[in-house]
Amino acid sequence: MKLILFGATGMVGAGVLRQALADPQVEKVLAISRGACGVQHEKLRELLMPDLFDLAAAPEDLAGWDACIWGLGISTVGLGEAAYAEVTEELTLLWARALLAKNPNLSFCYCSAAGADGSAMWARVRQRVECELQTMPFRHVGAVRPAYIQPGPGIKSKVKLYQAFIVMVKPVSGLLVSLLPSMATTSERLGRAMLRVVQGRADRFILESADINRIGA
Ligand SMILES: NC(=O)c1ccc[n+]([C@@H]2O[C@H](COP(=O)([O-])OP(=O)(O)OC[C@H]3O[C@@H](n4cnc5c(N)ncnc54)[C@H](OP(=O)(O)O)[C@@H]3O)[C@@H](O)[C@H]2O)c1
Repeated sequence: MKLILFGATGMVGAGVLRQALADPQVEKVLAISRGACGVQHEKLRELLMPDLFDLAAAPEDLAGWDACIWGLGISTVGLGEAAYAEVTEELTLLWARALLAKNPNLSFCYCSAAGADGSAMWARVRQRVECELQTMPFRHVGAVRPAYIQPGPGIKSKVKLYQAFIVMVKPVSGLLVSLLPSMATTSERLGRAMLRVVQGRADRFILESADINRIGA
């Protein structure tokens, strides 16, 4: 499988990248991001674009890929709907449509978030993205909705508030994952679950934490 990954510089994407590089079924990974992810591996190539909205600036032909995993995203804190949707919805769908047009057999996995079935502004935006992706003719498609993610070694969130929360929870985080699998997962399981979505090995479109733990075990 030839995989395109978004968000490799962040917590979710770094977890996916680690699992993808270790997976013998993954032949190569193209990480598309604004900055380098700091990982060197024979299977990994990076495409750095200062502005991901500027699709026309992509310096290479993006045909010949089997799958795309979307781990890119932002926190809703302090943002209105338009600003939150610009990255969460517009950017995701811009790339999903463009990559599908160039790769008709593409599979796609989107990182959403726990609570996305609610009525808050951010949840409504997430639902729009999930619904739109589900209607697109991907080979395999799915959305993961993680809640708490226990980061793997060396993996760190870029959000300061979340970094502080992880430090606070660290003493009990192992317990959280084993006792409350419907509320917590690990970078490793999430990474594997997202890979399994694009490999056609998931049994549903939306994967909540318990599904992520089961499918990514
Ligand atoms: N961490 C969690 O516990 C958790 C739980 C549930 C859901 N999620 C969701 O998972 C997704 C990823 O979260 P995360 O924890 O990995 O976040 P993170 O550590 O803050 O990483 C965010 C990633 O998105 C990229 N990004 C953000 N805005 C961008 C933009 N405008 N243009 C290009 N790249 C952009 C960042 O790239 P740069 O390095 O260039 O900034 C980085 O790679 C988010 O949608 C988040 O809501 C996370």
